[in-house]
Amino acid sequence: MSYTIAFSGKGGTGKTTLAGLTVRYLVEKRGKAVLAVDADSNACLNEALGVECHATIGSFREESLDTIRSGKDRPGGMSAEQLFDYKVQESIIEAKGFDLLVMGRPEGPGCYCAANNIIRKYTDKLSDDYSYAVLDNEAGMEHLSRRTTHKVDLLLMVSDPTKKGILASKRINSLADELKLDIGRRALVVNRVSSIDFDDVKKLISDIEVPIDNVYNLPDDRDIFRLDLVGNSVFALPPDSKALTAFYNVLDDLSIP
Ligand SMILES: Nc1ncnc2c1ncn2[C@@H]1O[C@H](COP(=O)(O)OP(=O)(O)O)[C@@H](O)[C@H]1O
Ligand SMILES: [Mg+2]
Repeated sequence: MSYTIAFSGKGGTGKTTLAGLTVRYLVEKRGKAVLAVDADSNACLNEALGVECHATIGSFREESLDTIRSGKDRPGGMSAEQLFDYKVQESIIEAKGFDLLVMGRPEGPGCYCAANNIIRKYTDKLSDDYSYAVLDNEAGMEHLSRRTTHKVDLLLMVSDPTKKGILASKRINSLADELKLDIGRRALVVNRVSSIDFDDVKKLISDIEVPIDNVYNLPDDRDIFRLDLVGNSVFALPPDSKALTAFYNVLDDLSIP
């Protein structure tokens, strides 16, 4: 079973960037098999990782989805499980040091959550092949209520230094409790904090009372901003860049096995 790290939080706070950097960290520091999962239907983790995306689970034909969803074998055809394995193998994109699975959107009029239902059903099975799984989720809490991320070892809630962002993290944190999700550890990462605002952010967090032990800050970093500006991946980020160094320290501190 892989060690699963999931990202959650308000849109535009840096989830995809940090998920990408986590993949880079694991590839550099652990050198074991990593599966990156883009569970955001507005897929862009592949861009952050510098990988071309040729197929997504969402692009499974409805027919296959129906078979897989029902769990019943298609008469005379492959079993639902064989079909799923085949489709996943087809969708897995192999990159340098890691694999990427993009959930995407289903084609046709099918339910958008079909892809998520599938991943929920089979993540455990899939994760046997990897030491780590890094899940980049969409903004909001839908993925939690749909339980796409049912077994998570480390949940990183990402916020920007705003009241809205911290409140969103607080809601995610409570929802995870209400849904009794199987989450090993949680941390709140406040991203894009400038040294001038640092004290205000600390005050905001204590005022809002987010009951999380691990709270970290990451600096606003022009190097990261420039990545998106020119369309480079996180692997192009200089190893001494401010945010990378700070985030690697966070991951070291969280002592991921
Ligand atoms: N620490 C940072 N410093 C500067 N820019 C950042 C930082 N973290 C993220 N960004 C930028 O913020 C934008 C949103 O980041 P992204 O990772 O796509 O957020 P999300 O996945 O949460 O929507 C991107 O343009 C990204 O380059
Ligand atoms: Mg994103």
